[in-house]
Amino acid sequence: MWDVSIVGQLVDSGAFTSENLELSGLTTLRVGGPARIVAECATTQILVDVVRLLDSAHIPTLILAGGSNLVVGDGGFDGVVVRVSNNTVGLEEDFVTAEAGAGWDRVVAQTVAAELGGLECLSGIPGSTGATPVQNVGAYGVEVGSMLRRVQLLDRRSGETRWVEPHALGLGYRTSVLKHSDAALVLAVELTVHPDGLGEPLRYRELAAALDVPEGRRLPPAQVRDAVLDLRRGKGMVLDPADHDTWSAGSFFTNPVVSDTELMRVLSMIETRLGDVAVPQYPVDGGTKLSAGWLIERAGFSKGYPAENAVVRLSTKHALALTNRGAATSADLLALARDVRDGVHAAFGVRLEPEPVTVGCAL
Ligand code: EPU
Repeated sequence: MWDVSIVGQLVDSGAFTSENLELSGLTTLRVGGPARIVAECATTQILVDVVRLLDSAHIPTLILAGGSNLVVGDGGFDGVVVRVSNNTVGLEEDFVTAEAGAGWDRVVAQTVAAELGGLECLSGIPGSTGATPVQNVGAYGVEVGSMLRRVQLLDRRSGETRWVEPHALGLGYRTSVLKHSDAALVLAVELTVHPDGLGEPLRYRELAAALDVPEGRRLPPAQVRDAVLDLRRGKGMVLDPADHDTWSAGSFFTNPVVSDTELMRVLSMIETRLGDVAVPQYPVDGGTKLSAGWLIERAGFSKGYPAENAVVRLSTKHALALTNRGAATSADLLALARDVRDGVHAAFGVRLEPEPVTVGCAL
C-alpha cells in the first residue's frame, strides 16, 4: 500500500487533485473503474515536478491525457493518475510547437487556419498531442513521425528533461520506443509545417478520389482538412457525445503485417473460405500489410456486430472500431474484442493485435 499523504505534496507542486474519480469519464471508450487520486497538471513545470515526486516515492502512476487510446479495467487504478493538461501551442514560420496536453485536433486546426500545410490529413483524430509520437499516429497517408522535428521528454529514471530527434524514437507503424514503456514522458512536440500554403502530397487513394485530384497533388490544407473530416465522419471516427457509434478508441486493432510465407498461407485460407476475392494488401517494410477491418468483416463480424441492442458493438460504420453503446463495462468490451480476435484467427490464421493500451485489464 502506498502512502496517500503524497496528496499534500502534489497540491504543493501545483497540481489540482481529486479522489476516487471514475476513469470512464476520462476516456473516449467511457469504460474503466475509479482512480484513487487524479492529479491534474496544467503546466509543464507542474507536470515535471509531479512525475518526479511520484517516481521518487515509487507510487504507481498512470499518465493520462486525451484518453482516446486507453482501455481501463473495471477495477480502476489504485495509484495516482497524472492528467497531462499543459496545452500551449506556438506557430512559427515553418514549425509548430505544442505542449503534450494540447488537443491534437486543435493543433491541426490552428495550423490549417494559418495556412500552414503538413498536418491536414491528421484532422479529426481524438486525443492529445503528446500521445501522437508514442504510437506514431497516422491517417490518410501521413504519419506524425514524418512531420516531427523534435520531442521533449522527461526521462523518468534520471528525472532530466531533454529534446530528442525523431530518429531516436524508433518510429514504426503505430509504434515507437515510447509505447508500452514508462521510461519517458512526452512534454512537448515540435512539428514541421510547410509555409507555402500547400499541404502534404496526397498519398491515400480514397482521399485523392474524394477531392477529385490525382494522387501526389498538393492542395490548400483547409480543403484537405474538410475532406478528411467528411471521410472520418462517414466511418464514425469523429467523436460525437450524442452518437454511440463514435464512443470508441478509433481502430481497436492494428492492421497486421505478415511475412511472404505467412501471406501465402493467409491468402489460401481466404480463398478456401471466400473463393477468388480481391484482398486489400499493401507492401510495407518487413512484408505485407493486410486490412484488419476487411478481415474482421469477412470472418463474419459485420459492421454493427453482434446486434442492435448489444451493450458493445462493432461500429455500424467501420468494423475496426469497438463501440460502447452507453452502459458497457470494460469486461464487456474485452469480451467482444476476444471474440473478434479469435474469430479472425480461426478463419484466416492471422492474430490481430490491439492498438489501445490496456491498464488493469488484458485482452
Ligand atoms: N474495410 C472493410 N470493412 C471495414 C473497414 C474497412 O472491409 O469495416 C476495408 C476497406 O474497404 C479498405 C480497407 O479495409 O479496403 C482499409 O480501410 P480504411 O481505409 O478505412 O482504413 P483502415 O486500414 O481500416 C486505417 C487506420 C485508421 C485511419 C485510416 C485512414 C489502422 C489500424 N487504422 O484504417 O486509423 O484513420 O486508415 O488512414 O491503421 C486509428 O488508428 O485509430 C485509426 C482510426
